[in-house]
Amino acid sequence: MKIESMGNLRRTNMCGELSLENEGEEITLMGWVQRERNLGSIIFIDLRDTTGITQLVIDDNISEELFKKAEKIRSEFVIAVKGMVRERQSKNPEMITGDIELLVEELKVLNKSETPPIYIKDDDQVSENMKLKYRYLDLRKSSMQEKLKTRAKTGRVIREFLDENKFIEIETPMLTKPTPEGARDYLVPSRVNKGEFYALPQSPQQMKQLLMVAGMDKYYQITKCFRDEDLRSNRQPEFTQVDIEMSFVDVDDVLEVNEKLIQHIFKEMKDIDIDLPIKRMTHKEAIERFGVDKPDLRFGMELIDLTDLLKDSEFKVFSGNISDGGEVRGINVKGAQDKFSNKEIKRLEKFAKDYGSHGLIDLRIIDGEVVSGIAKFLSEEEIKSIKERVLAEDGDIIFVIAAQPEIVFNTLGNLRNKVARDLEMIDKDDLNLLWITEFPLFEFDQEEERYVAVHHPFTAQMDEDVEYLDSDPGRVRAKAYDIVMNGDELGGGSIRINNSELQSKMFELLGFTKEETEDQFGHLIEAFKYGTPPHGGIAYGFDRLVMLLTGTENIRDVIAFPKTQAATDLMMEAPTEVSKSQLEDLNIDVKKKNK
Ligand code: AMO
Repeated sequence: MKIESMGNLRRTNMCGELSLENEGEEITLMGWVQRERNLGSIIFIDLRDTTGITQLVIDDNISEELFKKAEKIRSEFVIAVKGMVRERQSKNPEMITGDIELLVEELKVLNKSETPPIYIKDDDQVSENMKLKYRYLDLRKSSMQEKLKTRAKTGRVIREFLDENKFIEIETPMLTKPTPEGARDYLVPSRVNKGEFYALPQSPQQMKQLLMVAGMDKYYQITKCFRDEDLRSNRQPEFTQVDIEMSFVDVDDVLEVNEKLIQHIFKEMKDIDIDLPIKRMTHKEAIERFGVDKPDLRFGMELIDLTDLLKDSEFKVFSGNISDGGEVRGINVKGAQDKFSNKEIKRLEKFAKDYGSHGLIDLRIIDGEVVSGIAKFLSEEEIKSIKERVLAEDGDIIFVIAAQPEIVFNTLGNLRNKVARDLEMIDKDDLNLLWITEFPLFEFDQEEERYVAVHHPFTAQMDEDVEYLDSDPGRVRAKAYDIVMNGDELGGGSIRINNSELQSKMFELLGFTKEETEDQFGHLIEAFKYGTPPHGGIAYGFDRLVMLLTGTENIRDVIAFPKTQAATDLMMEAPTEVSKSQLEDLNIDVKKKNK
């Protein structure tokens, strides 16, 4: 089949915008063939472009030559058609353009297509790997294109607000030095300085702080960040942040302007009014009540402390754990009795074990009694007090964990989320926003046997906790905050240390030697000696924000060309080995792969 050029034909309209108002107009469309149906003397073609679909009609009464050409057209051919818009005989209310069709008078085949390896429709059964390999075909689906359009609009809406509020967009380098955000760096070898490496930024953290030293006052950037870490459904090795920094501010000032930004985004993108101020909860309260630092408040089922009731229990799993510094806590899943078979409880127990618990205890409330494998080990008094504490009613099932506090919180917090998801307790239309504040400044890393920064080492302590920096670092709270949406961390930030001595001390507390500090962060500590304003900021996961706005649970849906779970690009086949001469230029030897 002959491929033709567009010649003099130019698009006059898009496929998704025609209606009865265009009836009688002569127009030209260009696009891809979604499907074709040959009824013998008439051919119907659904023509698709990025705005939608229009039905084309090729009638053999108009021209035999035209009809013959149309007979050869297959799915995904690229064509140009000129013709007259007319009212359809049998209208399709499912389609935006379902009232009209285009009676074709001229047709050009601009390109052919082989049979595509994946269908261009939403309900296909193709594996995700196939879709990623043929991403350019997957992106032809309107559902995928809509997500990218939402992404573009979200960026626009954010820029609009920040520009209006006098934030200045500044680009920072991609070839830089490691900034500690808790992941491994992607390194780039230097050819000019052999044996030396740049790091791709895990975030522009140090650069944005240096821009505050430079007096830029209010900065923002929508920028790529790179982190070599274990991937999940909401993590990519290369992702985008909306990064913000401001001078002469404390926590309230940062939260205030960011709430307005969030309000603006939801109004413009979803026409949703968000009431301000957004609810705040301290980290301590979040953990105590929900077990995790990003609680989903769209449902209840809070953690219930049973420790004081069971410290003297005959049942050693309770009293033994408590005397070892552990705790006993539970959640009451109301009315869920018949929703958990023994097999399902085994599955939940395995889930609990993945979080470090030795087991999961279930107490069923039946006819006012506690029915459980462990009931016989509990005194009547203990059973009575448990029932009172959890507000037990017939049909309830109470899951209990006894372990060290971190394990109890982590297990129950995640179990609470899982049970709510499994039992469909969450109203998907509900939107829950929450600031978590007063994070601990440090946490103790058991493996490394030292304190590590919970947010990052540039974060300032709360003023009233400064005295504990030396005596009891674990007790120090940070001026750090996260914004949590529907149980997901959308962004996080902090007020920064702006004093060079304190910044040096922080590295010392984190176990850096003087030489290591000088080597890695000397530039920052020196900069802080020349008049650094108080400053702070935040960064949002832009991809995560777009996920929430488009209602998808897979981060890959909102990125044009994402990586797989194994951090590979199946379409370009990256990463790859490189040529010998490239390695020689870089003075790099590569060890043979272990088979
Ligand atoms: P943080 O490390 O909390 O803070 O990152 C900010 C936000 O970035 C998103 N995010 C990711 N999104 C997708 N894939 C990933 N691998 C990934 N990692 C993080 C999350 C997260 O909340 N410099 C500080 C911010 C600051 O202090 O101002 C920072 O990067 O939504």
